[in-house]
Amino acid sequence: MARTLQNFICQSCGAVSGKWAGKCEACGAWNSISEESSGGIAPVLESKRGRRIRLLPLTGEEPEAPRIQSGIGEFDRVCGGGIVPGSALLVGGDPGIGKSTLLLQIVAALARRGCRTVYISGEESVAQIRMRAKRMELSEAPVELGVETRLGNILATIEGGGEAKAPAVIIIDSIQTVMADAIDAAPGTVTQLRASTQELVRAAKRSGCAVIMVGHVTKDGQIAGPRVIEHMVDTVLYFEGDRGHQFRILRGVKNRFGPTDEIGVFEMTGMGLQQVENPSALFLAGRKEHVSGSAVFAGIEGTRPVLVEIQALVAPSSLGTPRRAVVGWDSGRLAMVLAVLDARCGLTLGASDVYLNVAGGLRISEPAADLAVAAALVSSYTGVPVRASSVVFGEISLSGEIRPVTQTEARLKEAAKLGFTRAMTPAGIIPLPAAISLDEIPLLARLVEDFQEQAESRNG
Ligand code: TYD
Ligand code: MG
Repeated sequence: MARTLQNFICQSCGAVSGKWAGKCEACGAWNSISEESSGGIAPVLESKRGRRIRLLPLTGEEPEAPRIQSGIGEFDRVCGGGIVPGSALLVGGDPGIGKSTLLLQIVAALARRGCRTVYISGEESVAQIRMRAKRMELSEAPVELGVETRLGNILATIEGGGEAKAPAVIIIDSIQTVMADAIDAAPGTVTQLRASTQELVRAAKRSGCAVIMVGHVTKDGQIAGPRVIEHMVDTVLYFEGDRGHQFRILRGVKNRFGPTDEIGVFEMTGMGLQQVENPSALFLAGRKEHVSGSAVFAGIEGTRPVLVEIQALVAPSSLGTPRRAVVGWDSGRLAMVLAVLDARCGLTLGASDVYLNVAGGLRISEPAADLAVAAALVSSYTGVPVRASSVVFGEISLSGEIRPVTQTEARLKEAAKLGFTRAMTPAGIIPLPAAISLDEIPLLARLVEDFQEQAESRNG
């Protein structure tokens, strides 16, 4: 007979241990371990001998997966061209960032296109959802609305039966509110999340209904209870942005049916989210030209070039350990750029506070931004503005050389489209768009010298 085991599970990282502890050994979180019965995840010893699997060659004719398109281009592109029937999507994000708003707009758009869509909420009442729909002028869209938290009832709705057909798309807002009766744990715990997600994914595959789950992110930026459900779903999208800014970015971090790292840009308005079709223009809007400490980085997000302004401020510090504050970039990477400036170019910022900001609330992870960051820092330090007509990109190596980066052509085309005429980057760009001339920067020291010379000729 199977023994029911009591497990101690960290609610932050999902690590399982045999005993309770104040601190999780795996992720270091305090007070995150709670006792849960092992439910469906206890190891099962196979008693019967299995059958041999019929193995197949890699080649074979498989039809291209059909896609359900919402017509909201920014969303469809992040999904890899639309929602795949029978797939499971997870949309994560901070509470209040706009996940429910986005998904309500998507189901309404799908419903208007004649697709049967169901929206199940465990967080809001029917009246609240109707009020929001009315404000966004979506009330007449034939979305079917339900308020439910019991897993069994949701599964029955997905699978249809009787005269009810399975819906094409169902939204579960949010997965943290779903509760499987059979499992003796509170909703939102790792055990509940795992079990509910597993059942929902299975129901999606069986019925062909695409399931979109909303997951709130915990304060450390992981989908609640963590990564524990990311591996079960086909597609993981994060909805991010700064609550202080109106821009919201939908980022694909995993996609079994398309490219990842694709972004969709939205703007939160009084009437819900609006698509932003030309994000570069938006990120550069309000940029002050001829101000020191600012450089325009020509980046690539997914398949799309995006220009953003990188701002830096270098100020004398009154602290023993000067401040390093970074928004929208990796602070480890900033430390590296500062170290290379110091060791290879003789520019020591060790006694200065350094602030770095990517304008507009975008988060950049490309190493290609190194040179733009360095340019903004050196510009702020010397007080010499970067040419307003220039875009900057290139990766800095520890030796102080600038390395060329991928997709230079796409970056330069986007820059030309937005009226830029110069590019600061390492050499070797063929073909160069006619509108752009190149300022070759093979070494970081060259950039520093250029700025210092300009500063001297201004002063002298
Ligand atoms: P919501 O979709 O409820 O967030 P989530 O589901 O991610 O928790 O969005 C909440 C925020 O969005 C709220 O602060 C108000 C704002 N909002 C607008 O600015 N305009 C709108 O039209 C709507 C519906 C919401
Ligand atoms: Mg919500």
